[in-house]
Amino acid sequence: MASKSINLIISIVVLAFATLCFSQSSNGGSLSPQFYARSCPQAHKIVHSVVSGAVAREPRMAASLLRLHFHDCFVQGCDASLLLDSGNGIVSEKGAVPNNNSARGFDVLDQVKSALEKACPQTVSCADIIALAARESTVLAGGPSWDVQLGRRDSRSASFSGANNNIPAPNNTFQTILSTYTRVGLDIVDLVALSGSHTIGNSRCTSFRQRLYNQAGNGQPNFTMDQNYAARLRTGCPRSGGDQNLFVMDFITPAKFDNNYFKNILSSEAMLNSDEVLATRNKMSLGLVRKFAASNEAFFQQYAKSIVKMGSISPLTGSRGEIRRNCRAVNT
Ligand SMILES: *[C@@H]1O[C@H](CO)[C@@H](O)[C@H](O)[C@H]1NC(C)=O
Ligand SMILES: *[C@@H]1O[C@H](CO)[C@@H](O)[C@H](O)[C@H]1NC(C)=O
Ligand SMILES: *[C@@H]1O[C@H](CO)[C@@H](O)[C@H](O)[C@H]1NC(C)=O
Repeated sequence: MASKSINLIISIVVLAFATLCFSQSSNGGSLSPQFYARSCPQAHKIVHSVVSGAVAREPRMAASLLRLHFHDCFVQGCDASLLLDSGNGIVSEKGAVPNNNSARGFDVLDQVKSALEKACPQTVSCADIIALAARESTVLAGGPSWDVQLGRRDSRSASFSGANNNIPAPNNTFQTILSTYTRVGLDIVDLVALSGSHTIGNSRCTSFRQRLYNQAGNGQPNFTMDQNYAARLRTGCPRSGGDQNLFVMDFITPAKFDNNYFKNILSSEAMLNSDEVLATRNKMSLGLVRKFAASNEAFFQQYAKSIVKMGSISPLTGSRGEIRRNCRAVNT
């Protein structure tokens, strides 16, 4: 009798817990850090091994791989649509303005995928590979770690127009940038924290030239870049030509993931207009820039939360989408 009622209580508790888990997961998609614990326990080790080799060969690769996670998630969700090449009805997102001549690291993800296909065929999605590679890259660059939510599946489509319209551009206004975030369920805190990704990586002359020559455009007042910093940038980024010339975005610690990015913004040494406006167009975002500039720990904590949130944008779960065999093409 007693044991029966205990069983009943346990069942109710289990049921309540399951309901709680379900309702939580219906917010972020039914993703879980343990998704491959049984089906591919080596997954994390394999991603780590390939990504750390690539970053050791070329430190810049950390930023490149991290950027792919953003450019994937902002376009029809984190579904590896970005990795599809053109052909068979697909117009690749790789050719869209935010990606053309700048998105890179696809070969590294191919290496991860082929190692995973050998170890656990058709099990680990390309969308999850991007998310895992982004975390590895951040940690390798000295940044925070987080539990990567897993279980995303891969899209059978890409969106060239989505890539052109939904990824924030370096010369967008603050309001436009914020709306690209709110459209996918991210808020102003996520915007400021995730912009901190620009603590590593390079930017091309074409992305900030207009700031060096007072061509503000867009009805905005002229930018307020520190004049010595602007003069240094002008030497490699002429008024015309040299579009693809590269510049480190955080000139203090270019390859280290830290909060110097926010300090640079406060000293008018932000590289992109989209960086500068965080401190000049909105009181709340200025407050956040100050908070993260003052505390690396505050930045890291919020960054980890925000990137997990970003990684949960419209995942394909259950039987939607597929597990691609090759990240560059849908299964036939
Ligand atoms: C991408 O850039 C290359 C080289 O600059 C250019 O030839 C090509 O047309 C661009 N692709 C698209 C889709 O605009
Ligand atoms: C922003 O940059 C894009 C791409 O370089 C360019 O086509 C567009 O005209 C720029 N917009 C403004 C408002 O300057
Ligand atoms: C921006 O700077 C240019 C060149 O110095 C100047 O001609 C223009 O009037 C300025 N525009 C604004 C809105 O301040």
